[in-house]
Amino acid sequence: MLRKAFIPIRLHGLELKNSFIKTATYEGMSKDGIPDDRLFKFHEEMAAHDVALTTVAYGAVNEDGLTHEDQMVIDESATPYLKKLADVVHKKDGKISMQLTHCGYFTRSTRYKSRKPLGPSKTLNKYGLMKGRPYSREMSKADIQQTVEDFARAVLISKNAGFDAVEIHMGHGYLLSQFLSPVINKRNDKYGGSLENRIRFSLEVVDAVRRAVGDDYPLLCKLNMEDGFNNGFSLKDCIDTVNMLKGHGVDAVILSGGFTSLTPFYLMRGEIPLKEMVESESNFLQKAALRFFGRSIIKKYEFSENFFLPLAKQIRKSTNMPLVYVGGVISAQGIEEVMDAGFDMIAIGRALIAEPDFIQKVKNDPDHRSPCDQCNICVGYMEKTGVRCVL
Ligand SMILES: Cc1cc2nc3c(=O)[nH]c(=O)nc-3n(C[C@H](O)[C@H](O)[C@H](O)COP(=O)(O)O)c2cc1C
Repeated sequence: MLRKAFIPIRLHGLELKNSFIKTATYEGMSKDGIPDDRLFKFHEEMAAHDVALTTVAYGAVNEDGLTHEDQMVIDESATPYLKKLADVVHKKDGKISMQLTHCGYFTRSTRYKSRKPLGPSKTLNKYGLMKGRPYSREMSKADIQQTVEDFARAVLISKNAGFDAVEIHMGHGYLLSQFLSPVINKRNDKYGGSLENRIRFSLEVVDAVRRAVGDDYPLLCKLNMEDGFNNGFSLKDCIDTVNMLKGHGVDAVILSGGFTSLTPFYLMRGEIPLKEMVESESNFLQKAALRFFGRSIIKKYEFSENFFLPLAKQIRKSTNMPLVYVGGVISAQGIEEVMDAGFDMIAIGRALIAEPDFIQKVKNDPDHRSPCDQCNICVGYMEKTGVRCVL
């Protein structure tokens, strides 16, 4: 039922005006880690147009978690920006969440603590080749412990600044997802091997976060249903993981898929904006490599409306965990289909980049369809000009 999506709901005590989340889409509006006016306007606009919960990205839990320099690190110095973000959204009667992330082995940032990128195992970091950071190193137990503490600290800072919820990024091939993936995680200790071991780091993060913020704070996780390559994190792994997260006090899971460093367009589908990606690349050699080999190294995935729904339905029938659907939501009919399949909330990326008032349009017109044609130029340009729709 379409109407159901517009009824106020509660997420662990947090009252939301409807079931719609603006999903994390890295905004690229924080030069040297300091947000500019566009970031505040971006989220204010979402709230003003009836998005119940808008998600800020990228929020790195420490410097080693940055993919590049122009991203926020969520430490004490971020508090003034976070407060301002929370304020502008609250003034428009919206709620705000922070996606907390660590990129693990794929980084090209020149701001870091550990010169070698951190990951579950030693892995080639093709993004860091020209930055003198070609390989990651296997994280020690002390690295893991420190990162757990950094997640907890970042969540508490977000909460204290007025954020209404947080989302821990466990998908898309970021650090926790690298640990979850049997292809990338080759460890022989208690953090590698069986799913119980591969998920240990994520559960330590969740437990530490819960301890830091207390029982009454909404905690979401974004998780892969599958990595999108052979022998990666699987649907069966996902079902078991969702149930384990439920046992550790996670309030909702956002179901996605794909691995940014290996299958980047699996998670959104559609065109590969190669020209814009080449333009945005500042390193001469990387630019040349992208121009000449981009087509052969970046795999294309055809877009279809609600493209993750068949997979997500399989998770839906296996658990009573509150689930958020994401992936290819572009029309009122599509929203109805997702709600009818029993999902609790719907997260939307490109349709809201194209039309910040997409939710209101859908509410007023059951035949509304997003003009987004999945050209993905918003992705190609997110680092260069900030995320925006060219249509
Ligand atoms: C420009 C852009 C930036 C994105 N950045 C992030 C991100 O920072 N974190 C994340 O979890 N997903 C990111 N994604 C993926 C989206 O959250 C979402 O999973 C995907 O786009 C599918 O949803 P959609 O079809 O509604 O766009 C990004 C997508 C786009 C288009």
